[in-house]
Amino acid sequence: MNNSCSCADARLSDGRQALIDDIRRLKKEKNAVVLAHYYVDGDIQDIADYVGDSLALAQKAQSACADADIVLMCGVDFMADTVKLLCPDKKVLVPDPAAGCSLADSCPPEDFARFIADHPGYTVISYVNTSLGVKALSDVLVTSGNARKIVESFPADAKLIFGPDRNLGAYINSVTGRDMVLWNGACHVHERFSAEAIARLKEEYPEAPVLVHPECKRPVVLMGDVVGSTAVLLDYALKSDSDTFIVATEPGILHRMRQGAPGKTFIPVPPSDSTCGCNDCNFMKLNTLAKLRDCLAGELNEVHVDPALAERALVPIRRMLELSK
Ligand code: 13P
Ligand code: SF4
Repeated sequence: MNNSCSCADARLSDGRQALIDDIRRLKKEKNAVVLAHYYVDGDIQDIADYVGDSLALAQKAQSACADADIVLMCGVDFMADTVKLLCPDKKVLVPDPAAGCSLADSCPPEDFARFIADHPGYTVISYVNTSLGVKALSDVLVTSGNARKIVESFPADAKLIFGPDRNLGAYINSVTGRDMVLWNGACHVHERFSAEAIARLKEEYPEAPVLVHPECKRPVVLMGDVVGSTAVLLDYALKSDSDTFIVATEPGILHRMRQGAPGKTFIPVPPSDSTCGCNDCNFMKLNTLAKLRDCLAGELNEVHVDPALAERALVPIRRMLELSK
């Protein structure tokens, strides 16, 4: 998969309204429900029946899809796998099957299995941003929204492995005082943020709180006034008395922030290594209105999961949902 940039403006087409009308019609005709992550384009978030962070999407999957025949998951592949695991009787479709995740790719199941074998007696906690194979090797899954709570549900001296995100793992170690053994994986989008870029914005907007996703590197996390999942950052931005915010996560979230607080100013942190200034997740941005329409019309790109892996992967997902109540 290539990690090249894809700016939002380049994706807008003249036929946008026609596509939106087609999708609305097809949703009704096919009794389809559309789920979307906060990182996909605003147009897709607006057309979705439910928009959330990874935790909310997993929590809502069953109820949101209960009466639907088709579920269209607009996000990346691990999110669609989770929906299929939780709603095995539904036809789960994705607009583009190439929408993967660099973080999930940084943890091949065979290598993770060896890592686990090297740490006998350890409980395996995995971030939900993983392949089905890694989920099947895990004792419990977490998202950025519930990782702290789930890690703290284990005794203070428990021997824990945390994979695949070294940054989220290090952040959780720092706030819980645990010493989890970390898999050395990362998200290429969040790793592009730098403390220097935030410091420059702080000079310009000294009063603006800095909102940081815990997939960012330690120096960036340390600059955060708020560190949390996309839902936590959104909630803070909407409720805070501040009127300007510096945002260090994928800029798709700005759509909801601006919709929810039109009078406030949200400043995306530019990546440290890009020429165009955006820090889009190229995988999330593979979801386009045209692909959504074609996918619904032709019922394309159905998600199938290996039954044996699915049975094993469902156990840590259910445990996560239980522990996050
Ligand atoms: P959350 O949805 O948990 O905030 O995670 C962000 C992310 O990187 C999803 O791919
Ligand atoms: Fe994966 Fe990072 Fe994109 Fe989320 S933002 S889907 S973790 S590559």
